[in-house]
Amino acid sequence: MNIPVFKFDAVIVGAGGSGLRSAIQLSEAGLKTAVLSKVFPTRSHTVAAQGGVAASLGNSDADHWHWHMYDTVKGSDWLGDQDAIEYMCRKAVEAVVDLEHYGMPFDRTENGKIYQRPFGGHMSNFGEKPVRRSCAAADRTGHAMLHAMYQRNVKANTQFFVEWMALDLIRDSEGVVVGVTALEMETGQVVIFHSRAVIFATGGSGRIFASSTNAFINTGDGLGMAARAGIPLEDMEFWQFHPTGVAGAGVLITEGVRGEGGVLRNSDHERFMERYAPNAKDLASRDVVSRAMTTEIKEGRGCGPNKDYVLLDITHLEPATIMKRLPGIREISMQFAGVDPIKEPIPVVPTCHYQMGGIPTNYAGHVVAPDASGRQAIIPGFYAAGECACASVHGANRLGTNSLLDLLVFGKSAGDSAVADVKAEAAHRDLPANAADYSLARLNAINTQKDGVSVFEARQAIARTMQDHAGVFRFADLLKKGVTQILEVEKQVRRLEIKDKSQIWNTARVEALETENLIEVAKASMISAEARKESRGAHVRDDAPDTPEFPNGRNDKEWLKHTLWYREGNRIAYKPVQMTPLTVDTIALKTRSY
Ligand code: FUM
Repeated sequence: MNIPVFKFDAVIVGAGGSGLRSAIQLSEAGLKTAVLSKVFPTRSHTVAAQGGVAASLGNSDADHWHWHMYDTVKGSDWLGDQDAIEYMCRKAVEAVVDLEHYGMPFDRTENGKIYQRPFGGHMSNFGEKPVRRSCAAADRTGHAMLHAMYQRNVKANTQFFVEWMALDLIRDSEGVVVGVTALEMETGQVVIFHSRAVIFATGGSGRIFASSTNAFINTGDGLGMAARAGIPLEDMEFWQFHPTGVAGAGVLITEGVRGEGGVLRNSDHERFMERYAPNAKDLASRDVVSRAMTTEIKEGRGCGPNKDYVLLDITHLEPATIMKRLPGIREISMQFAGVDPIKEPIPVVPTCHYQMGGIPTNYAGHVVAPDASGRQAIIPGFYAAGECACASVHGANRLGTNSLLDLLVFGKSAGDSAVADVKAEAAHRDLPANAADYSLARLNAINTQKDGVSVFEARQAIARTMQDHAGVFRFADLLKKGVTQILEVEKQVRRLEIKDKSQIWNTARVEALETENLIEVAKASMISAEARKESRGAHVRDDAPDTPEFPNGRNDKEWLKHTLWYREGNRIAYKPVQMTPLTVDTIALKTRSY
């Protein structure tokens, strides 16, 4: 088949925060840069980020990048790589200043500086007390950020391919990445993007869970493509449940609400976080708050007719503060929960929000994986940034507002690395002769499947399996059954059929392709979770002993290591955590409490 070939210096897959940030570096360096996106760039999931981006500007409280680094290592339950964490926290101020120069409309303090609010787990002076570190544009920070960076890209002549879905990575016989195949969603045309650098910025995969704050586009496309190309996925057992999703709807209510003074209450009207985290209270780390909420509900102190949610209360705040700092939250509460938070508390439950794991990278944005001899090696031509990547700065649990920071810092570093590598190479490497065959075979199977399983059924099966077997608390027997079940679901996904054939060129086919990516993420997550026999950060199991030797069930002797899941054979391997930062002393292991 004659497949059109589009030639670029660099191809970025995904037009959210990390994709747009990388693209600025490439286009401004004069490279011919394509950005592929399933949706219009400013509708990417970054648009949903509400509460802010972390940076130790010190505009409202004294602050320092080293304190931010300490909080991030502690938040990660020591699974984060300390070189990457130091890099990110040191670069944070510059990342925010860059945005300011792109025209980002941050809120202001009375003296005109960027407004900052407190967020969970962010403390001053190595864990002493909450600090105002999150730089915010009301409760629409991601929205403002996308617009500022999209406009900067338009100015820099980045070429956008909107409503295009990348299908597969193309690697040559030496394993070098030389492009991607992609589908134009409107026409069904398959095209090869031949390039000297491919950056994955495809975001998260939270749609593997039934209750999720994630957009419907968050289907792990980058992770699926990487896994099919033989690249392992790192630390996929660690999924963050955001404490405050609207009960029954899953829509995000920013942690910034608690940053502005909101508190969580149970059916006794008790501010229960005082019992679980006496120092940080409602501003403890997300995993801690989500577990506390789940415990309150399990022990019968939930609210509502079914006692299955708790309340987020801001009725004591000035209405003017709510209207100025949290206008979007008021709108969401009225639309999705039917309550005006000025007058009544909001019903909330922990909801899947963020994947801490992803495609393994170093802090320069290169994808790194073990080579044939087991040595960690850069995969030439391939970069990743943002939620689809694992640098690893979030380890076992991410702090709120570090996601926007991650995508800015590593979007830029991936872009810079690609610029340097492309400029060092004289020409494009050749495409393999069969570059599109694999993608075409996948499409053909979907088009011709008979008596198969509908995409809806398969997706429901994935989401229910993940929700029931790998939630906020994890149980050894449920994880074991979850592995068997998800492998059964995989068999259904291999027989996906588009029931309404009139939809074959359009959304139904895209949904089938997305489902093939979701199943890879779900398998990686369940199998990695079953294999990790300790509790750490967001991964808490019933059979991990909580003893003085292993406080909170964390076992540093055996499990201070990153998981690598390989699609082939569902093989698990491990690699060490980078405990040595770039310039400062190691943040030493200790028991985590707030
Ligand atoms: O709560 C929030 O505004 C979410 C922020 C984040 O996930 O970083």
